Amino acid sequence: MNILLLGSGGREHALAWKLAQSRLLAADGDKFFASPGNPGIAEHAECVALDIGDHKAVAAFCAENAIGLVVVGPEAPLVDGLADSLRSDGIAVFGPSKAAAQLEGSKGFTKDLCERANIPTAGYVRTPSLDQALAALDRFAAPYVLKADGLAAGKGVVIAETREAAEEALTDMFGGAFGEAGAEVVIEEFLTGEEASFFALTDGTAILPFGSAQDHKRVGEGDTGPNTGGMGAYSPAPVLSEELQARAMREIIEPTVATMRAEGMPYSGVLYAGLMLTECGPQLIEYNCRFGDPECQVLMSRLESDLGEIMLACAKGRLAECEARFADETALTVVMAAKGYPSTPEKGGAIDLDSAEANGAKVFHAGTALKEGKLVANGGRVLNVTARGANVTEAQAAAYAAVDAIAFPSGFYRRDIGWREVAREGEQESPA
Ligand code: AMP
Ligand code: GLY
Repeated sequence: MNILLLGSGGREHALAWKLAQSRLLAADGDKFFASPGNPGIAEHAECVALDIGDHKAVAAFCAENAIGLVVVGPEAPLVDGLADSLRSDGIAVFGPSKAAAQLEGSKGFTKDLCERANIPTAGYVRTPSLDQALAALDRFAAPYVLKADGLAAGKGVVIAETREAAEEALTDMFGGAFGEAGAEVVIEEFLTGEEASFFALTDGTAILPFGSAQDHKRVGEGDTGPNTGGMGAYSPAPVLSEELQARAMREIIEPTVATMRAEGMPYSGVLYAGLMLTECGPQLIEYNCRFGDPECQVLMSRLESDLGEIMLACAKGRLAECEARFADETALTVVMAAKGYPSTPEKGGAIDLDSAEANGAKVFHAGTALKEGKLVANGGRVLNVTARGANVTEAQAAAYAAVDAIAFPSGFYRRDIGWREVAREGEQESPA
């Protein structure tokens, strides 16, 4: 079968690497396309230029190339309804419809759904104007959690320590700091606990748990400095025990899928639940309608089942026939970013990956380009250096050994990815 993968980041390189191993692409003449792709993805797929915002053009490409499955990596085209346009032409798509992608596209939509379906999440109000938002602050205490309703490239959440800071942030949000995304703001209770990500695939009815991970959102070691898209991750997340995963399935994922179906917006694709593990159990912080980046890289590193077959079954409503097997080992990925990230990353820095994969590590390209045949940085997050080990401590050592073998002088990275779990593993080995 011919497959088209959309996207250009480390997440899509990991998906491309895994899809390239699928039986769906095993026959002579099977073609694998990616758009726009990147130099890492180009090792597995033929990269083509498509205007993803032009749904008709994407559908025409699919028709001309007899595409049997489209895999959509990022959220924006899903929230924009690309999956609906392709499905209306009879093309199988891995990714939710526009209506279902509101789970990521509108924080207020998701909070209202949680209320209707009795899903544990922080108490909240939706505020459509600055006046209402300022008045609503009376109902909350510091720290104030303020969220632009729409897609804001991961930057739409402000945690304000004081009432003054909250008022200032609300004024900015309604003043257009996040464009249209901030036309409505959700104010919610501050939850305390450890955060973890939980993934599930669903075709709208069947649900397949698809692993756990923990990300490191802050740019600096010890979880300090500004928020980023994620500086490193590992999977599984031992903090999300089997018991807690079962609870998250029962209390959060299953009612979400059932309610979306009952309300005529069946969700098809991957549901990525950001959870806060509170004293009262897992609570939903947010949903994403795509794989996490860089969480996807560690999930794919552990996945033993055929990703293409699972995604096709999901797209065709046959997910109940699938199982997902993951290696028991831990995978850990370190993000190498360009200096200046997350504000103004330096572009064009030289990268030498020659011996990085010598010991079994895998380097996914997140923001690279080829310039006169040489690999250079071309984005904020540039490389995702991924390795496996018996536990987080060993996977961490293997990943940093590969990082140390990479020459990227205009890059930087955190040296402590996995620190929480490494500390816990150390305690288990040498109890006081
Ligand atoms: P997001 O950009 O939506 O991933 O949110 C950024 C971060 O804000 C999350 O990863 C949490 O650390 C934090 N956050 C979001 N909602 C809450 C909440 N209700 N209570 C505490 N922290 C929160
Ligand atoms: N790594 C966080 C995200 O993909 O949203």
